[in-house]
Amino acid sequence: MGKKILIVDDEQNHRLMLKIHLEDAGYEILEAENGLDGLYLAEENELYAILLDIKMSVMDGLTVLTKLKEKGLNTPVIMITAFNNVRTAVETMKLGAVDFITKPVDIDMLLKSLDNLEKVVTEEIKVNNIPDDFIFEGVYSKEGLGKIVDLLKMVAPTDASVMIYGESGTGKELVAKAIHNNSPRKNSQFLAVNCAALNENLIESELFGHEKGAFTGATSLKKGKFELADGGTIFLDEIGEMPLSTQAKLLRVLQEREFERVGGVKTIKTDTRVIAATNRDLEAMVKSGDFREDLYFRLNVFPVKLPPLRERKTEIPLLVNYFLEKYASRFSKVIKGYTKEFIEKLSSYNFPGNIRELENIIERSIILCTSDKLSADVLPELKIEDNEDIDTLDVKENEKQLIIKALKETNNNKSNAAKILGISRKTLHNKIKEYEIEV
Ligand SMILES: Nc1ncnc2c1ncn2[C@@H]1O[C@H](COP(=O)(O)OP(=O)(O)OP(=O)(O)O)[C@@H](O)[C@H]1O
Ligand SMILES: [Mg+2]
Repeated sequence: MGKKILIVDDEQNHRLMLKIHLEDAGYEILEAENGLDGLYLAEENELYAILLDIKMSVMDGLTVLTKLKEKGLNTPVIMITAFNNVRTAVETMKLGAVDFITKPVDIDMLLKSLDNLEKVVTEEIKVNNIPDDFIFEGVYSKEGLGKIVDLLKMVAPTDASVMIYGESGTGKELVAKAIHNNSPRKNSQFLAVNCAALNENLIESELFGHEKGAFTGATSLKKGKFELADGGTIFLDEIGEMPLSTQAKLLRVLQEREFERVGGVKTIKTDTRVIAATNRDLEAMVKSGDFREDLYFRLNVFPVKLPPLRERKTEIPLLVNYFLEKYASRFSKVIKGYTKEFIEKLSSYNFPGNIRELENIIERSIILCTSDKLSADVLPELKIEDNEDIDTLDVKENEKQLIIKALKETNNNKSNAAKILGISRKTLHNKIKEYEIEV
């Protein structure tokens, strides 16, 4: 007898399609056409897994999942969801689903997910227990990037494609790395490809590799990033610049997980998670015919929008401290902090280059700084937009509130609070004094 799988789905055709493929793969199938029947069968049978449709008329998948957990049934549940409902699917992982698959169901992917269940059970990778030890090479506040980080925590452990939108310098690559570093793929490669920097021929050879003699100059065999990143993650930066012909080849990799090297005939399999980024309006590009719609849907499974720095100015003090620590030691300088005017002047600026621009400004200021504090006179001339006249007292107040929060969250443990804030213990100590915070 094969392992038993219960399919709960109100569409008969869909159940049938899954049943045929799964029986082929050696599983034994039970079917339920609504959530109630599903719950009954789940209680009565020793199941290997449950495939649960989210949108069902009688009782939706979320309710079924909740009830299963209430009854203490720990059978692994894989959610089946429409494309436009992936956010809900990710939410279900908080409720205890182990994975989700989008419709139309890619059978290979489903079989792999079912295979993985054994690992999940034995290694106890519990995706529903969102870890607190999220690895992130930067700083953020709860009100700023924190909301996005909460989403990243949910999507990181899955295999879903992620599409990162954001202006230049908002941290797209940083976020892509964080997703990789907090995923089960973390011990394999993270490889980035900048689609804007390469012409069509080069980009294909970069992604898929080429055989010896494939074109003039191809003097030896070269493996592409999809081959090298097998088991890991590939980051397609500036995907909006990818030529249409390459887009077609990328779509095939995403759908069929296979490709050929340029000039080659051998089909190569790859298991690579794709994270893409752009600062362009892909939806508009789809409308104008510059970006394939099918590829857009494949990639846009989980969109993440990074706000520009001017929309999260309360994070400026945090970031300044972070870069101060980073660069002061690099340039062997002892700089304790900054003056009020320094942060006020920065905060009235709009940062078209976002965090990268702020980072460059701080690096430059540290080089120029001759005292033990960064002061406004080391700042470059910043073009201030009058419409963004931000109240500087607010910035100070915000910083104070961030510190109070961090202390509260860590039960006044200053080392941990400093860590959360991305500043040293000493800086924190100084600020507690400056703001007369009671601890
Ligand atoms: N929250 C953060 N905390 C600390 N540093 C950050 C943060 N976000 C971004 N940075 C830093 O800002 C710089 C720019 O980030 P990144 O390269 O990820 O941006 P990007 O969106 O990919 O930019 P571009 O579109 O120009 O490629 C990097 O040095 C990165 O480390
Ligand atoms: Mg980048």
